[in-house]
Amino acid sequence: VFKFHFTFVGGLKVWECALDLVEFLSTENVVENGMKILELGCGAGLPGIFAFLKGATVHFQDFNYEVLDLLTIPNVLMNSQPVESMVSTRCRFFAGEWTAVGKFLTEILDIKNDRYDIILTSETIYNIDNQPKLLHLMKSTLKPTGTIYLAAKTHYFGLGGGTRQFEELVRIDGTFDIKVRQVVSKGLQREILQMNFRA
Ligand SMILES: C[S@@+](CC[C@H](N)C(=O)[O-])C[C@H]1O[C@@H](n2cnc3c(N)ncnc32)[C@H](O)[C@@H]1O
Repeated sequence: VFKFHFTFVGGLKVWECALDLVEFLSTENVVENGMKILELGCGAGLPGIFAFLKGATVHFQDFNYEVLDLLTIPNVLMNSQPVESMVSTRCRFFAGEWTAVGKFLTEILDIKNDRYDIILTSETIYNIDNQPKLLHLMKSTLKPTGTIYLAAKTHYFGLGGGTRQFEELVRIDGTFDIKVRQVVSKGLQREILQMNFRA
């Protein structure tokens, strides 16, 4: 575990979009054995755990070391029995803020030639101020042929973020194509967005 520091604990509960993302990965069957996957803002890490059980190597990131230690890692271990030993070879856990984790992955682990096939993220775009950091991390760690699946609410009332607003940021930035793959209309509207590098 790469330790940075501790601030907020949004990762200590399972948010609705994490379950949407697991269901989407299951019905769309997009995760393949041997893929390299990064879950950003993982919290309990359910989408990443699903990918791990499908045979992927999964790297989990959360802002808080404590979330990884008390929730993500125990969850991964509980879900990987009786093949617990696979966790040490196919999982890694990174705690820290997105800019710092991006620097660690690109400059220290030097993943230039071994970037991620898929980046998963759920309920991480509610804060507009942090979105450019998330986008930058995605750009620097996704394989040229890779795909991002982002699950989020259409609006985060009082916070300013949401899927339409994030789409606009991505369009202005111009690095990725972005499209809506699924809309879940129960309760507060939730969506799954797909992003790929522009051809
Ligand atoms: C609302 S929680 C979602 C947790 C989980 N993905 C889920 O859907 O249940 C938001 C997550 O994003 C992470 N996060 C938010 N802003 C961040 C930032 N600037 N840098 C790193 N992680 C951040 C938090 O640590 C937290 O785990």
